[in-house]
Amino acid sequence: MSAIQPPAQRIWWNQPIHKDEILWVVIAFTWCMIMFFMMPYWHIYGKQNLSNETYKVKPEWFQRATDEMVAKYTVRKETAENIPVVAPPAGSDVYLIARLWSFYPILELEKGKTYRLNLTAMDYQHGFSLQPENINIQIVPGYQHVVNITPTKSGKFSIMCNEYCGIGHHKMISNIYVK
Ligand code: CUA
Repeated sequence: MSAIQPPAQRIWWNQPIHKDEILWVVIAFTWCMIMFFMMPYWHIYGKQNLSNETYKVKPEWFQRATDEMVAKYTVRKETAENIPVVAPPAGSDVYLIARLWSFYPILELEKGKTYRLNLTAMDYQHGFSLQPENINIQIVPGYQHVVNITPTKSGKFSIMCNEYCGIGHHKMISNIYVK
């Protein structure tokens, strides 16, 4: 019997299945089922998996929502580019724009409060890498990535772009403050 030659019994599917074969089919099927149900299980209970939602979005809409938030909740400005530091209310939608080669604005959040973090890219694909928490999200233009976040530690966190986006990629860094 070989896999290349035609089978000796042409109607092979009517042959009784060998016990070993049934055993392997059962093992493989059981393993498939375990892997399958691990997907929803890990989505809900996995600590390291980020459950984000993604929607299509028009850049103008996202820019407007961001501008409204910045106009209402700016507390100060920082960096050489005068990027506003925004402290939006707990529970609200907060907006963060990635573009060549900065993040806008800088967010200041409260510890223990939950926010809906909305991310988009205005031009090319960027990355959102939150350090030292090591949370990584791809930010794709035309899409709005929504993550529910609840900071558990206060301090100054770093965001960096981890998707190569051109000559200024290495300078595409920012912060999130947690009070
Ligand atoms: Cu943006 Cu690399």
